[in-house]
Amino acid sequence: MPPIESGLSGSVTWKSPSNIAIVKYWGKYGEQLPRNPSVSFTLNNAFTKTSVSYITRPNDGGDIVDSFLFEGKEEPSFALRIENFLKSLIPRLPWLAHVKLKIETENSFPHSSGIASSASGMSALVLCLCDIEENITGQKTNQDEFKRKASFYSRLGSGSACRSIYPYAAIWGEHAKISDSHNEYAIPCIDIDDIFKTLHNDILIVSDKKKSVSSSAGHQLMVDNRFAPARYELANDRMIETLHALKNGDIKLLGNILENEALVLHALMMCSEPSYILMEPETIKLINTIRGFRRDTDLDVFFSLDAGPNIHLMYPDHQKDKVQSWINSELKPMCVDGRIVYDQVGTGPKKLI
Ligand code: DP6
Repeated sequence: MPPIESGLSGSVTWKSPSNIAIVKYWGKYGEQLPRNPSVSFTLNNAFTKTSVSYITRPNDGGDIVDSFLFEGKEEPSFALRIENFLKSLIPRLPWLAHVKLKIETENSFPHSSGIASSASGMSALVLCLCDIEENITGQKTNQDEFKRKASFYSRLGSGSACRSIYPYAAIWGEHAKISDSHNEYAIPCIDIDDIFKTLHNDILIVSDKKKSVSSSAGHQLMVDNRFAPARYELANDRMIETLHALKNGDIKLLGNILENEALVLHALMMCSEPSYILMEPETIKLINTIRGFRRDTDLDVFFSLDAGPNIHLMYPDHQKDKVQSWINSELKPMCVDGRIVYDQVGTGPKKLI
């Protein structure tokens, strides 16, 4: 690394969205490497906005983070996680040892909504870092390389974060039949029908309690899960089916995979040792109501779940009037305080300043 002049300063701001996996990442090894490939939709309204101001300084081995504000307030536990993450990056990004950073970050969605804030949070932070690296070193990369790098470092922060970098949909994890697929970073899923580019993804809030198991602990449960080998094989097969559905606009096939993947994820948690049941009674009621409505109307409305009880309800934009009036009359009353976060598939991160 060429020497870094002290006293250079600047600031950058990025917003980066959360994502919802179609084929789920569940099980990891080594340095945040996935046991199976996954593919996700990039969201739009659920995002993190992060600003990072930097000043270069001689390496004194001290903290990188000078101040950290989450939604305008100091959050020592988040700050510590970020400091540890940044320090872990120094061997790969040695310039980090020569800066002090002021970080301000906020989410567009409520903290307790069960939306994966690590995906949007880590990707927004890493996009700022990649930008700052270019400012400090003067070495500019092209857009594709920039995104690949951002995806690589986001993965080290939180596995699923590496998929948030791309518009519409992203693939992460090696698959023998998907060219350029990689375990260390995600790649864009380009062959995707227009129907999915505006797909709705409304989050029906069933519980706003903190998760009883962290994702990291959840991934760990796969190490001794007797069903793990079969799960990884299934996920590999699902990738091909999913890419086929995305390319051909086959929403019924896609919806079927979405629901099955969500239930397999929860089944894996239920049969882990220790076992976790993360669905609430309302989750099951909602699932049955959604399936009943689909049977009765033949509308393309499907659900997914993350590692929590809240339902992600997906439907195409051209059916939104009918579906949304049903959501308001039937589903809203089943949500905590009638809370729903309305979202859609989106175009990916944006640099704001
Ligand atoms: C159920 O990416 O949150 O949402 O890599 O430990 O940070 P870490 O885990 P995380 O796991 C996400 C799991 C999931 C499925 C998915 O997004 O693919």
